[in-house]
Amino acid sequence: MKSFKITTLPGDGIGPEVMNAALAVLDVVGNEYDLNFKIITELAGGASFDQYNEPITESALQSCLESDAVLLGAVGGPKWENLPQEKKPEKGLLKLREVLGLFSNLRPAKIFASLANASSLKKDVIVGSDVMVIRELTGGIYFGEPRGHNEQEGFNTLRYKKYEVERIAKVAFEFARKRNGHVTSVDKANVLDSSQFWRDVVHEVHQDYQDVPLSDMYVDNAAMQLVRDPKQFDVILTQNLFGDILSDITAMITGSMGMLPSASIGENHAMYEPVHGTAPEIAGQNKANPIAMIGSIAMMLEITLNQPEAAHRLNDAIETVLENGIRTIDIASSDSMIVTTDGMRDEIIRAFQQTNKAISNSRELVKE
Ligand code: IPM
Ligand code: MN
Repeated sequence: MKSFKITTLPGDGIGPEVMNAALAVLDVVGNEYDLNFKIITELAGGASFDQYNEPITESALQSCLESDAVLLGAVGGPKWENLPQEKKPEKGLLKLREVLGLFSNLRPAKIFASLANASSLKKDVIVGSDVMVIRELTGGIYFGEPRGHNEQEGFNTLRYKKYEVERIAKVAFEFARKRNGHVTSVDKANVLDSSQFWRDVVHEVHQDYQDVPLSDMYVDNAAMQLVRDPKQFDVILTQNLFGDILSDITAMITGSMGMLPSASIGENHAMYEPVHGTAPEIAGQNKANPIAMIGSIAMMLEITLNQPEAAHRLNDAIETVLENGIRTIDIASSDSMIVTTDGMRDEIIRAFQQTNKAISNSRELVKE
């Protein structure tokens, strides 16, 4: 039996609910694939601030550093909005990314055919689109020094080192190569020095990936092209701030923020979390959509735990449930069957176990 240590940071708002749902799913997957999970739960974000006056503690960070993978629900909420920058829930997340060295952020935005109507864009614009945003996550204007504000001015620094651009560019080219895709590197090289530098380095790295088509696009144009014709994109490679913005756009192409998982990967650590926020208006009501969190479990199974079959089965189970018209309220339409967070969890578990039966039945048939 393989054993993994996982630190979970449920966080704020709907974070704890979707985390519980996802851990129940993980439990079922573990039983089936003979994987043993040692789950440690720590506070993060506003929940951590309320208890310890810090958005993440040293001991929570230590637990993450000692884990095979970290699962994060969501952090933030109106309750903590007026705290100083250093105490804000978001700072806890940034600290995690920094301390764990999670420089590459993978945000897949794939359309579920059965949900095409949930997008605010026209169906024929979006059906068939499958975009992966690869966002640099530990550099750029999010972390640049100096930074600050007083009554007269506010400022941040946008700076990239060569090795930072090189390593994220490699991730993008490797990923695109694996799926026979192409890379669009998004920048603002017509205005920003840091972007001209980004572009030069990306092209240098591209020398080793001549088989992967590369094009450059200015970020304002990319925002427009994403809603005009998302199918032209495959892998989008971009800096921290642009990736933050563009990944919200790609999320809306799919129709619901509640659907999208993400992976943040570094040299030695990995963290998995939904792209969505804490949705405080529905927190604690068993209404939140757990699919992004469960999809994040699937990404963890595939990338860190090296269990591609389990990951594919889990993604298939999510798709089956959606095809059967089962929906949480955020993605419901007039003809769907509306379920709670726990209801969605149970449906996905059932669909997962059914594919198992299908697999073992076909094994039986082969034997006979
Ligand atoms: C995200 C979020 C974070 C970010 C916040 C919560 C710090 O918006 O993961 O996209 O800006 O990176
Ligand atoms: Mn964001």
